[in-house]
Amino acid sequence: MAMPRLTRAARTILVGAPGVGKGTQTDRLMKQFPELSSISSGDLLRKNVRERTPLGIQAESKMKAGALVPDAMILRLIVNELTTRGWIRDSTLRPYAVYASSVDMEETTVDSVIVPSGLRTSRYSYSEHPSASFILDGFPRTAGQAVQLHDIVPINLVVNLNTPSDIIIDRICNRWVHEPSGRVYNTTFNAPKVDGKDDITGEPLTRRADDDPEVWKARLKSFKENNEPLLEHYDKLGILWTVNGNSSDEISPQLFKEFGRRFGVLDN
Ligand code: AP5
Ligand code: MG
Repeated sequence: MAMPRLTRAARTILVGAPGVGKGTQTDRLMKQFPELSSISSGDLLRKNVRERTPLGIQAESKMKAGALVPDAMILRLIVNELTTRGWIRDSTLRPYAVYASSVDMEETTVDSVIVPSGLRTSRYSYSEHPSASFILDGFPRTAGQAVQLHDIVPINLVVNLNTPSDIIIDRICNRWVHEPSGRVYNTTFNAPKVDGKDDITGEPLTRRADDDPEVWKARLKSFKENNEPLLEHYDKLGILWTVNGNSSDEISPQLFKEFGRRFGVLDN
């Protein structure tokens, strides 16, 4: 089957209440548009907690309490991940000529423009090629994080997922995850093929430490405090798009359509 292709780089973030379906929509977008990759701030943090890294140890108590980790901590994690994946490059550390191992990689292809850091105040540069498209799930979630991210790589679409909270709380109680991959299941909505087992690896599924109704309320409270200034920030930049729906199945088709409209999808 022909897969739709993007014609320009999508640099998208998903914003929404805990359990609204950010992870679910990210997976679906990646299936629909194979050029997309994603970073989930929550998955990155949980990986650090699991591996007992110094950062993970510091983050764990905050996460268990449903509070946000400090901006500086999450920023360090995300910048590191963006760099490792090659979506941004730090021009002060790696001069372009050294970085591009195969000569004309990006310089000579017409549709792939490296934005020189000299034109921006940032020390980072990024590519406009569709293959440099990404989705950030769960970052930024404060206006401060958004301002800092903007200086590193400007986002061009902010998807605000909006679902009433009484609907969301029911889902959280039925969520099961495959920790190593971040794959998410729900016993009523998208149950695994075999009870308690990951579809792909067959490994056991577990519950997230913060998926307890009381902790979820704390997460929702923190979300409400931070979200308005965040949305305001992106609204001013003219890149905020809100989608309403009571279920992920209502939201996905609208999201695919908007994505196609914004990023000039071609069927090849
Ligand atoms: P994070 O992991 O990002 O958690 P969250 O924002 O609370 O969001 P969730 O992952 O719980 O929900 P989701 O929207 O991805 O929903 P999902 O698709 O799984 O962050 C965790 C913690 O890390 C934070 O509390 C904070 O401490 C820290 N952190 C992370 N980022 C940070 C940052 N930038 N700054 C500071 N701290 C940060 O769906 C939920 C469930 O619903 C699933 O079971 C799913 O299958 C089910 N479902 C989805 N759609 C439907 C449907 N239509 N009907 C029924 N069930 C459905
Ligand atoms: Mg998630």
